[in-house]
Amino acid sequence: MGDQSTMNILAIETSCDETSAAVVRDGRFVLSNIVASQAQIHAKYGGVVPEVAARKHVEMIVPVIDEALTSAGCTKNDVNLIAVTTGPGLITSLLVGVDAAKSLGFAWDKRIIPVHHIKGHIYANQILEYEGKKVERSRDFIFPIICLTVSGGHSDLVLLRSHQEFEKIGSTVDDAAGEAFDKVAALLGLGYPGGPAVSAQAEKGNRDAISFPSPMIHQDNFDFSFSGLKTAVRQLVETEQKKASQGNKGQLDQKTIQDICASFEKAVARALLEKTFRAVQRFGVKKVILSGGVAANRFLRDEFERRARETGVEFSFPPITLCTDNAAMIGAAAFFQSRENFSYRDIAVRLSGGF
Ligand code: KG4
Ligand code: ZN
Repeated sequence: MGDQSTMNILAIETSCDETSAAVVRDGRFVLSNIVASQAQIHAKYGGVVPEVAARKHVEMIVPVIDEALTSAGCTKNDVNLIAVTTGPGLITSLLVGVDAAKSLGFAWDKRIIPVHHIKGHIYANQILEYEGKKVERSRDFIFPIICLTVSGGHSDLVLLRSHQEFEKIGSTVDDAAGEAFDKVAALLGLGYPGGPAVSAQAEKGNRDAISFPSPMIHQDNFDFSFSGLKTAVRQLVETEQKKASQGNKGQLDQKTIQDICASFEKAVARALLEKTFRAVQRFGVKKVILSGGVAANRFLRDEFERRARETGVEFSFPPITLCTDNAAMIGAAAFFQSRENFSYRDIAVRLSGGF
């Protein structure tokens, strides 16, 4: 297994509500990627409850790491380095993964690479082989690159000048894009996580039915804002509910729900596209990457693909299963970043966003 020419990284990710461990070879070949999602547990609360998430991580972390090693056909002797997400994320969730990495680092006498969660989402795009299958679209990075990471906790626009030089050039000033999807889904009674449910409804709706605002779109910066859009949806839903029951709260009909979802999705995509491609022009970028859970959204990916083709830049996004939180992306990022590694004594969680 772990001969001198290969680098096997055992990666651990627990920044939010997925307990995940993976073994990644040479940053591009995923030998295993085990993800224990807590989505069903948090669904009844309509969002992630940090205390509940941390307790579940404590329960799952050892079996998940065990399974990642077993299904990769590895023992501790095959592992060269351990990678772990050290932030940003929920502090109590991060601590479980970081403590597991530190314990293994101590027990196995291995060095540890701390990884920024957003770097993980970006490097999901470098993975070449996953579940024994080749990944078609993933090619070597051509710098400079603009990467938009859109998830439940982030809407970050990052400029990569090299594997070591990252600069966050824009971010959300309020809600993250995924959070907006989750809140709109809650308003429409579509359940949690909201993104997939909203996008399934949107596929059947009319994207021009309602003209929702795309806030901050005309401002000369690379920031986003989604809370005004969410409020516009809420007001419309309340109006429609009143209409549906002449003054009392009533059920919206299916067509109205589909049209709201389709028009909302269009407004989100418009804001994301506008700022991303403005950055492409400004920085003379050759490649655009979409990552994070919201990159699983088909409409968004299609719009990015179309715009990239028109602009003449390369575009890529990870396979859908690697868009949402997973440890394979952390193992990939660890391989490509400076690979600066530390003793178990020197690893700590990082709460804020700096690379
Ligand atoms: O990256 P991720 O798994 O976790 C975070 O780091 O937050 O992203 C989860 C987010 C959720 O808000 C979920 O609603 C959203 O990604 N999401 C989607 C879709 N699939 C997941 N949003 C829009 N369309 C989708 N198809
Ligand atoms: Zn994430």
